[in-house]
Amino acid sequence: GKDKELIRGSWESLGKNKVPHGVIMFSRLFELDPGLLSLFNYSTNCGSTQDCLSSPEFLEHVTKVMLVIDAAVSHLDDLHSLEEFLLNLGRKHQAVGVETQSFAVVGESLLYMLQCSLGQSYTAPLRQAWLNMYSIVVTAMSRGWAK
Ligand code: HEM
Repeated sequence: GKDKELIRGSWESLGKNKVPHGVIMFSRLFELDPGLLSLFNYSTNCGSTQDCLSSPEFLEHVTKVMLVIDAAVSHLDDLHSLEEFLLNLGRKHQAVGVETQSFAVVGESLLYMLQCSLGQSYTAPLRQAWLNMYSIVVTAMSRGWAK
């Protein structure tokens, strides 16, 4: 329906430049919660947050995140097919010390990136459409924390 059109339409341009948009998202994330930086092994090798964000390891993770978002956008009609993958992805994040509460600030950072990149096209319905998809992804990943 309308949600899918809004998401696909907005991703069409963003998806072509994944890394720079991912960098905006993660710069915002580390600004909102600097503690998350220390969950990355490599963070001890960089002096400032800015250094970290230009290190190959961070750019690699940013790329991975954007590819997951890309997969979700491509599977809007059957997000269920990603459940197993997202459960395992959740388990990996549980193992590196991420807490599910952090997904709220990750979501906020995603919206920040969309707002920066889309300008006038960032509307309330578009924001809600992305939040809905993000919440499905987060719910599936969160199963990786279940005992
Ligand atoms: C792997 C941290 C959010 C996708 C990792 C790793 C760390 C990490 C430390 C392992 C090292 C690496 O591959 O770089 C975090 C933190 C997050 C976060 C602190 C925010 C709180 C996300 C989100 C996604 C994501 C939102 C996608 C929706 C991935 C993927 C991998 C990964 C695909 C590789 C997993 C594999 O090895 O199979 N993450 N991550 N991450 N992350 Fe994240």
